[in-house]
Amino acid sequence: MRRTLVAGNWKLNGSKQDTKDLIEGILGGISEVKNADVAVCPPFVYIPQAAELLASQGASSNISWGAQNCSQYNDGAYTGEVAAPMLKEFGCTYVILGHSERRAIYNETNDDIVQKYIAVQSAGMIPILCVGELLSERESGKTEAVVAEQLDAVLNVTGIEQFKNAVIAYEPVWAIGTGVTATPEQAQDVHAFIRQRLAEKNTAIADKIQILYGGSVKPDNAAELFAKPDIDGGLIGGASLQADSFLGICKAAG
Ligand code: 13P
Repeated sequence: MRRTLVAGNWKLNGSKQDTKDLIEGILGGISEVKNADVAVCPPFVYIPQAAELLASQGASSNISWGAQNCSQYNDGAYTGEVAAPMLKEFGCTYVILGHSERRAIYNETNDDIVQKYIAVQSAGMIPILCVGELLSERESGKTEAVVAEQLDAVLNVTGIEQFKNAVIAYEPVWAIGTGVTATPEQAQDVHAFIRQRLAEKNTAIADKIQILYGGSVKPDNAAELFAKPDIDGGLIGGASLQADSFLGICKAAG
């Protein structure tokens, strides 16, 4: 039985005060979240602060934390980058990789993403690998081909064994920040396709991997998404910036 995971991607938002308020707000309501594992992914500079606030709760909090990106390199002359071992040192469990905003705005390629994926796992963390199609690709019937290409770009280099400690997030680009959510059926179809593609290599790994849905998840649509058999939680953008809405989504896990 797969656990539900709800991860907040704060993107480029927040301040020290916001981080304090948001983490304290989440901690204040987390005892009501029974059936989901929860993670927050603040901007790099707020990770130590979030980690300290969360760790101060000790074992009473099942909230982990992660980053939104990292370098494919562990050290060296790469001005402005943050390496996977640095994130590990600050207790990160997860690193989001291949988000569509990084692919589109920062020209990240599948090759970059696979190198980052290897770096994250080598540092002992779990990549959250994002895949998803543009609206034009969906409308021209290319959703599965696009998702398969993004998935295979990693799978064909790392091999299926490297999906034992990984999470996948299906984020249709047309649903991100738009208020237009994929219907539970649309999302389920793609999640099942992803799981099937992994199962062709190894059914046990495919059965176990958590596949999250991302794209305009809100407290009022989360439950029906999470009820689908292959949707194992959510990667939440806008609604993860308020404790109430984020907790509402976490509680929708049942
Ligand atoms: P929204 O929840 O704001 O649509 O963002 C989704 C997302 O991109 C999470 O990574």
